[in-house]
Amino acid sequence: MIRHQILDHLALNKGQYVSGEELSKRLKITRAAVWKHINLLKSEGYIIDAVPRKGYCLSALPQNIDPYALQYAFQAQGLQAWKLQYYETIPSTNDQAKQVAKQDPLSSAVIVARTQQSGKGRHGRTWSSPAGGLWMSILLHPNLSLADASKTTLAAGIGIIHALQELTGLEVQIKWPNDIVFQGRKLAGILGEVSGEWISVQNLILGIGINGNFSLTDLPPGVAGTTLSEIRGCDTDLNQLAALTVAHIVNQLRVLEREGFEPIRQSWMAAAVGIGQPVKIIDGKTEHFGVFSGIDEDGALILGEGKQQKRFTAGDVHLRSAEGGYDLSSDSNRN
Ligand code: BTN
Repeated sequence: MIRHQILDHLALNKGQYVSGEELSKRLKITRAAVWKHINLLKSEGYIIDAVPRKGYCLSALPQNIDPYALQYAFQAQGLQAWKLQYYETIPSTNDQAKQVAKQDPLSSAVIVARTQQSGKGRHGRTWSSPAGGLWMSILLHPNLSLADASKTTLAAGIGIIHALQELTGLEVQIKWPNDIVFQGRKLAGILGEVSGEWISVQNLILGIGINGNFSLTDLPPGVAGTTLSEIRGCDTDLNQLAALTVAHIVNQLRVLEREGFEPIRQSWMAAAVGIGQPVKIIDGKTEHFGVFSGIDEDGALILGEGKQQKRFTAGDVHLRSAEGGYDLSSDSNRN
């Protein structure tokens, strides 16, 4: 692909000028064609200075998801061995990850889409996925039993927090079980899906949705939550964020495989919202009130009710603030 060849050359000489003549000779196209490609790249978010008699100088890659910038970011994180699939638009990256698992059972893959037409959220909800977000699924085969599968989404939550902190410095938190929130507003969510035998996870799919470079008005009316551009007032490099997120999640899963759940539990508790505060657990039609005491060695939520303790697993229940408690009613992107 010509545009990738132009980018390879400009990226190799990043910050320096490469003449139109040199590019046209290397790629065996006219200088006018070079100029056309450069303009197209600029319209896609590449910052390229064009100076007469000096040539072209690449100073920045796009902030939104872009296949070349994504590959570049994955390489920079040492993730070049991963199978990386990019789609302009797709029904759901999680469903595509399932297809990859079927066709190529041993491969580890990352599927990223610029938009999703029928993105899936937890509890069977839909997940709005406009352009400017990070919509991605990671297909892995961790050395874990099926009983440990639910802990992988808690570990992934820690991975996302570390990636966001590293790239943006934001102090994000986690709402049980794995909503990523900023000042009580949901910024990102995780949808974990597994298949396997009782003794081992065969395929783990971690679907990650991060509200990136778009405004809340791009989400359906009534949807709460927040986005990185609302918080930061500028765009965030989503290609780098994708690569960093994969790298940090892989690290956390390695910790889970090698050291068990305890270190993940500790990190999770340190990043969690609402521990020690009054909460309401909605279990179907039943509501339980108590104090959120944290999570146990299986990742279940512990609710203190007087001297008694009740445990709840993530599949069945919803956590809400109790009256007078913190406000976490923001289930973003869900219709
Ligand atoms: C949640 O409800 O909090 C989980 C949302 C997960 C959304 C992501 S976006 C990428 C991946 N593909 C999907 O269809 N869903 C997940």
